[in-house]
Amino acid sequence: MSAPSPAPRPPRRGHLVGPHVSLRPPAPEDLPLLFRWLNDPEAVAPFDRFEVDSFQGLEDSLRTAPGDARSLAPRFVIVRRTDSAAIGLVGYYRAHNALDTIDLWYAICLPAERGKGYGSEAVGLLTDYVFSQQTVGRVGAVVDVGNPASFRLLERIGFAREGTLRQAIFHHGTWHDVGVYGLTRAEWERVRPAEGP
Ligand SMILES: CC(C)(COP(=O)(O)OP(=O)(O)OC[C@H]1O[C@@H](n2cnc3c(N)ncnc32)[C@H](O)[C@@H]1OP(=O)(O)O)[C@@H](O)C(=O)NCCC(=O)NCCS
Repeated sequence: MSAPSPAPRPPRRGHLVGPHVSLRPPAPEDLPLLFRWLNDPEAVAPFDRFEVDSFQGLEDSLRTAPGDARSLAPRFVIVRRTDSAAIGLVGYYRAHNALDTIDLWYAICLPAERGKGYGSEAVGLLTDYVFSQQTVGRVGAVVDVGNPASFRLLERIGFAREGTLRQAIFHHGTWHDVGVYGLTRAEWERVRPAEGP
């Protein structure tokens, strides 16, 4: 009798579960919450351009996002693992037609949940996912230089500041400089959290 084959192990790379948060795709029942968050500038855009979306527009963008590499729609909901509560959103998009790089965006949409490490963990999971699923040599992000929580999050998980786009975004009544951050695949291999047994 042949030995039973070992049980399949879940994929470790890009597995979207961390010690405190996990990422899951938005479900239809998330729509009202996402609509509320995305129409609340404090939830998603205290340092960013803000555009009000319609419910139908949100529904359409979530439906078409999987086939649209440039979509800015939320790709995953950040879930707190202790109680499965949704606490934020992350996305990724092809920012350049001619370059093999993908930019990330992220928001802990409940202000009371910021500053607890959830954002860093969620963006680490997202970075791992993008490198494991996409043929890119670099993952990036652009950050208002006045948003220390965002650029410190990136630096904490290994991103480097590559430059500044001066006066590149208009929000809250004025133009803002934007820091360009990037992480190469080789750098991520060196700094990413070790896999479990
Ligand atoms: C940016 C954001 C996602 C960070 O997530 P978070 O869970 O609050 O961040 P973390 O707790 O993981 O902390 C990340 C780093 O930022 C620092 N930080 C957190 N809040 C901060 C604040 N208000 N001011 C300065 N630094 C802050 C932390 O100390 C940590 O840095 P350290 O490792 O050097 O100590 C969150 O603040 C947020 O959702 N902001 C609104 C939306 C937004 O600005 N998104 C980014 C657009 S590019």
